[in-house]
Amino acid sequence: VRVPPPQNEPILAHAPGSPERASLQAALERMASERIDIPILIGGKHVRSHKTDTVRMPHRHSHVLATVNEADASHVQQAIQVALEAKDEWARMPFAERAAIFLRAAELLATKYRPLLNASTMLGQSKTAHQAEIDAACEAIDFLRYNVHFAQQILSEQPVSSAQTWNMLDYRPLDGFVFAVAPFNFTSIAMNLSVAPALMGNVVLFKPSTTAALSNWYMMELLREAGLPDGVINMLPGDGPTVGNPALASPHLGGIHFTGSTPTFQGMWRTVGENIARYKQYPRLVGETGGKDFIFAHASAADDLDALATAIVRGGYEYQGQKCSAASRVYVPESLWPRLKPRLQEMIAELRMGDITDFRNFMGAVIDEKSFKRTSSYIEMAKHGGSEAAILAGGETDRSEGWFVRPTLVQVTNPRHRILQEEIFAPVVGLYVYPDAQFEEALRECDECATYALTGAVFARDRKAISRMMHALRHTAGNFYINDKPTGAVVGQQPFGGSRASGTNDKAGSLLNLVRWTSPRTIKENF
Ligand code: SER
Repeated sequence: VRVPPPQNEPILAHAPGSPERASLQAALERMASERIDIPILIGGKHVRSHKTDTVRMPHRHSHVLATVNEADASHVQQAIQVALEAKDEWARMPFAERAAIFLRAAELLATKYRPLLNASTMLGQSKTAHQAEIDAACEAIDFLRYNVHFAQQILSEQPVSSAQTWNMLDYRPLDGFVFAVAPFNFTSIAMNLSVAPALMGNVVLFKPSTTAALSNWYMMELLREAGLPDGVINMLPGDGPTVGNPALASPHLGGIHFTGSTPTFQGMWRTVGENIARYKQYPRLVGETGGKDFIFAHASAADDLDALATAIVRGGYEYQGQKCSAASRVYVPESLWPRLKPRLQEMIAELRMGDITDFRNFMGAVIDEKSFKRTSSYIEMAKHGGSEAAILAGGETDRSEGWFVRPTLVQVTNPRHRILQEEIFAPVVGLYVYPDAQFEEALRECDECATYALTGAVFARDRKAISRMMHALRHTAGNFYINDKPTGAVVGQQPFGGSRASGTNDKAGSLLNLVRWTSPRTIKENF
């Protein structure tokens, strides 16, 4: 029986007067008035630590939302032991029963937990209601449901047998545990990083980002209520190396499922290399590590300037540019620039930024002081960039109450300017205007300028130009959009991931990711 693929979860609008708006408001108010203590979770037990950190609202940094207990090496060792003890029973559970737990989790998230996950993602990670809804609700639900569908497809893939010989693939989990390390910017990614390996029968040590610990903790509560057995996913908040080093030094490391920065992933890869002789198996290394994502316009996009401007604004500034898929470098032909420039400046000036509980705002704050300072230094560089850089919009910052950075557009005259090369992870977009006759040179610059290759978008109507761009930029993006913004991949529709310095391209939201979490045994029996 082939079960039909699930549907993507519809996005709720949270319009004034709607029931979802009322429940979200109630959750926001409650969360803003309490201060929960987020434990370490080992084998279903809430463990406290002598070392704690805080989760603050990025848009009002004096407000502490939660304290977080930080794990040390002994917690990691305990978690490894508990996870390995839980492993056999979990792996032996029939797939349909494991699947039922995650499908029930999807249903609980679509209903009871939706306001909790949305409110905690809004307050802790400074997402607007819409940005939270498409992440912590819809995409997280989609991962839960579609992963079950993808896993079923994998399990049905079997070799040829004959009357005398039976051949089969036994889809075992990896021999050991999976270390899942999540970023702050997507609650849904935290969900997929831990749930995809678990669905395939693995046990998981899950390290959330401390700044996202509130939403990630509600996610643990959700999975427990859905029936996930204790010890299958263990949550270890804390400092990266403190939690990571003992996990990576364990002989039982079966794999890493990571989303975060390129230097962190490279450091983990090096540590795995140093430990390689200790492991019982070669660990699976799956990482998604940032981007410097482009929008490249061709002269034939002349009739689509509004669409192009909208893609730059939404792709570049939604969620303060803190999506690894965010548009952060734009290439525009000279022939389009005189009309596009005022349109862009006008649109950017109109963007409302502020407290994300004010539903009229389009943007909140950047995640923390470190990000604020880093972004400010790039803006300063642009301000003092002489003839090489000019700020066309934004450029203001305000740290008095929250970590606010106005959406900023910087035009550069050097196609290898640092603003076009380096990942800033904030609402700063670099733009380069190329002479129409140098289309080929500009394409080459776009391909060679950055080390990343995650997402990219081209705008054109001329089919020959589209073909040319698809070919010239074939290695420049793992997710390639034609006449659309480069953000917002939908689970099951646009499998997500990139190569080069952007990761191992093990497409999240597709069967290709799930397949990494199984180590099949081939069995032959003669009759
Ligand atoms: N999947 C997200 C997007 O496509 C980024 O992680 O925007």
